[in-house]
Amino acid sequence: MTKDTATIRNNATGKESEFSLQHGTVGTPAIDIGSLNKELGVFTFDHGFMSTASCKSAITYIDGENGVLLYRGYPIEQLAKNSTFVEVAYLLMNGELPKAPELASFKSEIRQHSMIHEALRVFFNGFHYDAHPMSMMVGVMGSLSAFYHGELDMNDPEHRRNSAMRMLAKVTTIAAASYRHSVGWPFIYPRLDLGYCENFLNMMFSLPGQNYIDQSNYIDPVAVKALNLLFILHADHEQNASTSTVRLASSTGANPYACVAAGISALWGPAHGGANEAVLSMLAEIGTVDRIPEYIAKAKDKNDPFRLMGFGHRVYKNFDPRATITRDTCYEVLEKFPSEDPLFELALALEEVALKDEYFIEKKLYPNVDFYSGIIYKALKIPEDMFTVMFVIARTAGWVSHWMEMMSEPGQRIGRPRQIYTGYGARDYTEADKR
Ligand code: SDX
Repeated sequence: MTKDTATIRNNATGKESEFSLQHGTVGTPAIDIGSLNKELGVFTFDHGFMSTASCKSAITYIDGENGVLLYRGYPIEQLAKNSTFVEVAYLLMNGELPKAPELASFKSEIRQHSMIHEALRVFFNGFHYDAHPMSMMVGVMGSLSAFYHGELDMNDPEHRRNSAMRMLAKVTTIAAASYRHSVGWPFIYPRLDLGYCENFLNMMFSLPGQNYIDQSNYIDPVAVKALNLLFILHADHEQNASTSTVRLASSTGANPYACVAAGISALWGPAHGGANEAVLSMLAEIGTVDRIPEYIAKAKDKNDPFRLMGFGHRVYKNFDPRATITRDTCYEVLEKFPSEDPLFELALALEEVALKDEYFIEKKLYPNVDFYSGIIYKALKIPEDMFTVMFVIARTAGWVSHWMEMMSEPGQRIGRPRQIYTGYGARDYTEADKR
């Protein structure tokens, strides 16, 4: 028995065994239980993976108790203050901040890959005009699998990198195209003279043939700054549900575009990335400050499925550092783009009531990154059904970084969890059983 092991005893059989403790650079150590079934004849059961580490990763670290979020060691607050999303994407993918020539080349590569094949563009015509943009994101991102067969040797680092760069570059074009299709506007192509966020806003809101000189209509510096910040804050977050989905799909050696499409599907749920859209719907339903107590009561009622969207987090049992930064940006954006919509005031009032409520204090439920992001997107005239698409754009940087990290590791194994079986024991097929 040493300090670097844990002893597990199966009292049903009296057998016990020692298992190694795996330590990371920082954070909670993990018991390596890979041989548990062989040695003690038992599985572990961890509903929702509350205490299970699925992999080793050097990309992002969260200290939920202290509200710490590090991307490759850099605190999110410093990146939010000093960096741009493209620079952070480089950091997540490569492990270090880019030197000036590296950043210039990275930006140029993104621009070169930002177009989508014309045959892919017509895929949007297959969607009904009122299809949810997230359904188009899943379909079109997954369809990239049909276009890049020549570079799918996952053992070739250059093939892996090109796949990752294509997804990082094309996700904004696909996102803007899904919006344009949903409003019946013609598709706007990416431009080589615009940055990542500027290009996205241009593809979203410019009108064909419009005099690009007066681009201030939709490429406002405050909007670009806010988008860079929101994309940085949403870029990665350890083994969240959608990143874990990308990793599990990738463990089979599946096409990377299909794996990221699986991640987009997982992000869509209101418990995950769909929460930013759900926050706005919730605020609209509450409507006025005087109805806040009624909804706080609903959120606390065990028999009511209603939850306060934008509150709570699996890991942060203190404030979500991203929510704090987003809240400050809200003020800046609403100052530049004043809105008659009382949503922000209502959100502030709801936050104030909830943070003073015993239930939320006892269960450590604080606003998370999704509580304020929707209000900013709304102020930037981005429609609510595009909010989770905005999350997809940012998180694609994290998904492709985890995919590259995982595919570059030797000895990859397919992810294949076990279960506790609760069905029938073996039984014979009899005519009598056919009701
Ligand atoms: C994201 O994982 C990530 O890192 C995700 C993310 C990322 O960047 O990838 O950070 C992005 O998904 C942020 C979370 C966005 N989702 C929401 O805002 C939806 C509302 N939040 C909840 O659904 C919930 O808080 C979760 C899903 C975020 C976390 O769920 P957990 O960790 O499984 O917590 P739980 O459901 O076990 O809740 C613990 C208790 C329960 O009460 P009891 O059964 O113990 O009595 O807290 C209650 C819950 O009922 N609770 C809430 C609540 N969240 C939890 N009660 C009311 N309102 C809420 N929002």
